[in-house]
Amino acid sequence: MEIFVVPTASATGSVAAGILAAVVRSKPDAVLGLATGGSPLPVYRALAEHSVEMGAVRGFALDEYVGLPAGHPESYAEVVRREVTVRLGLDPAKVAVPDGGAPDPRQAAANYDAAIARAGGIDVQILGIGHNGHIAFNEPGSALDSRTRVEVLTERTRQANARYFASPEDVPTQCITQGLGTIMEARHLLLVVNGADKAEILAAALQGPVSSDCPASVLQRHAHVTVVADEAAAAKLAPGTGEVTVRVAGAAVGV
Ligand code: GLP
Repeated sequence: MEIFVVPTASATGSVAAGILAAVVRSKPDAVLGLATGGSPLPVYRALAEHSVEMGAVRGFALDEYVGLPAGHPESYAEVVRREVTVRLGLDPAKVAVPDGGAPDPRQAAANYDAAIARAGGIDVQILGIGHNGHIAFNEPGSALDSRTRVEVLTERTRQANARYFASPEDVPTQCITQGLGTIMEARHLLLVVNGADKAEILAAALQGPVSSDCPASVLQRHAHVTVVADEAAAAKLAPGTGEVTVRVAGAAVGV
């Protein structure tokens, strides 16, 4: 595991975007796993500044709410369209999001894993982390080998995401999420973490026991993980966490 610690959230975007741009330059039709939430937004913004042709890139979103009307601005299909597909010039036909409006969401979830496999698997999976250690919508208790499936959101996650909706009751109660086992099959995991409110859970995920109580702890079992954290989020990491830790000064990342 390599860990980059940078001064600010915007610098996490610069570093992670540099990694992604290099991947796409060497493999123009790379398969990217696309995360939503606030943490990856600086990554997409910084990647848009790179002169790298993204038209052949394929993308799979991590998760989607179940039951939002098609076109709802906070559906992950819309967030990915706005923040990733349009911003980066991806071909919309090459970007998939789990179908949260499907008549049979369980079948849609199974189809999604099959589609990832048909694409040859994910080259780089971008990830954020929730305050309870969730990755995608794999809440505590998720099996470490779980597949893409329908899940019930915890109240804590619904409260965290209420900021995107007119009222907290509008946050859906269910979702389709890539499973932890699905995520672990990606060839490279790129975890982006910002803010002091994530310091405790990041330390637990990277240094604590590997357990479904903290779903992100499964990353410790992956052969190729890159963590990009700002100083606030990295504050509780013990020295020596990860095989390589690089502290990047402000000037090196344009802050
Ligand atoms: C959301 C998403 C996750 C995301 C997490 C943290 O609910 N489903 O993929 O990583 O919460 O989001 P943020 O980066 O906004 O804290």
